Amino acid sequence: MNLLVVGSGGREHAIAKKLVASKVVDRVFVAPGNDGMIADGIELLDIAISEHSKLIAFAQKEAISWTFVGPDDALAAGIVDAFEAAGLVAFGPRKNAAELEWSKDFAKSIMKKYRVPTARYETFSDFEAAKAYIEAQGAPIVVKADGLALGKGVVVAETVEEAVAAAQDMLLDHKFGHSGARVVIEEYLSGEEFSLFAFVNGEDFYLMPTAQDHKRAFDGDKGPNTGGMGAYAPVSHLPASVVEQSVVEIIRPVLKGMVAEGRPYLGVLYAGLIVTDEGPKVIEFNARFGDPETQVILPRLTSDFAENITDLLAGRVPNFTWLEEGVTLGVVVASAGYPLAYEKGVRLPEKTSGDIKTYYAGASFNTNQELVSNGGRVYMLVTTQGTVSQAQKTIYQQLEEQDTTGLFYRTDIGNKANQ
Ligand code: AMP
Ligand code: GLY
Repeated sequence: MNLLVVGSGGREHAIAKKLVASKVVDRVFVAPGNDGMIADGIELLDIAISEHSKLIAFAQKEAISWTFVGPDDALAAGIVDAFEAAGLVAFGPRKNAAELEWSKDFAKSIMKKYRVPTARYETFSDFEAAKAYIEAQGAPIVVKADGLALGKGVVVAETVEEAVAAAQDMLLDHKFGHSGARVVIEEYLSGEEFSLFAFVNGEDFYLMPTAQDHKRAFDGDKGPNTGGMGAYAPVSHLPASVVEQSVVEIIRPVLKGMVAEGRPYLGVLYAGLIVTDEGPKVIEFNARFGDPETQVILPRLTSDFAENITDLLAGRVPNFTWLEEGVTLGVVVASAGYPLAYEKGVRLPEKTSGDIKTYYAGASFNTNQELVSNGGRVYMLVTTQGTVSQAQKTIYQQLEEQDTTGLFYRTDIGNKANQ
């Protein structure tokens, strides 16, 4: 069968690469993809994520069996609904189910209704009311733009002034455009964060290994929030009881709730969780795979990915199997300056082989067919080793040998697992 993946980043590279490896797959197309994917037998399509009708026309013409949707904005724009209306199958939630991600207010209301543990919150569209609430609650406190803001619409404020300034940026100064027309102001939670992913069809779900992202730009979790600078899976220092509790108190009730609301969930559900003294609580839901978590989770899948998704879509019980031993760890290499302004066009090191996989994100060919940087996050090196420290050694030795002039990476990915 022929498959289509929508998206262009490292996440989509990892998804498409796993699909290429399937014994039931003939061709894998990615729209629009990036040039770094080509060497892995992935075919690129020059169609933007937002061009639903062109994507649909392609899927019909090439008899695409199903389409895997990577990014949140496509889901929020209703790409799955558009495919369904054209009689096509897409793996991802419809717009009304993806609302779990594209409106923090909606996600919070579902959690409240179905008693899913999360930070206490209020939603505001009036700045004066938001300010009064912040002043009454005190700091630390968290201010979030309601809509999608590329992971950058969240301010964890240490002081009341900082929180008020964030609410002002969003509500009065429209710094996040429409996404900030409403803000969710929530209780600050402290604890270790992890990401829990599941493949979902309605109330049926299949957990993936736990993962931990590193969202801040610099070592020691300093600097601005980014899309994610590195990850590893599984997070084996998390007690199994925490994962079990997350399933019972969070994943099950939310999926049941979505069915009860007439918004059955299909696709990958991403729960961003924090382990508080009172147990795991939800920081956010995403309606898709995480990036960079996908690049460390999918290499651990030992079953046939395309067969698994085909079964799930057909309502059959998929037989997902995962590597039991060791750990998969990856470090993102980004353009110097990311997540703020950065240069493009930096020549990239050779693609790795053997133990270390390279997944590309912001990479494209220059006129000499050389791979150069073309985005914030550029590529990611990923390895599977016995322990986190072995994996760190493998990746960081490789990175030291590479010429990363004009690029940067964190040197402490996975350190929390070693503590
Ligand atoms: P989000 O985009 O909602 O995942 O938030 C980005 C980051 O902000 C999270 O990964 C957390 O580190 C932090 N954060 C969000 N909400 C809270 C909260 N209620 N308490 C503490 N930290 C938070
Ligand atoms: N790794 C964070 C995200 O994909 O949103």
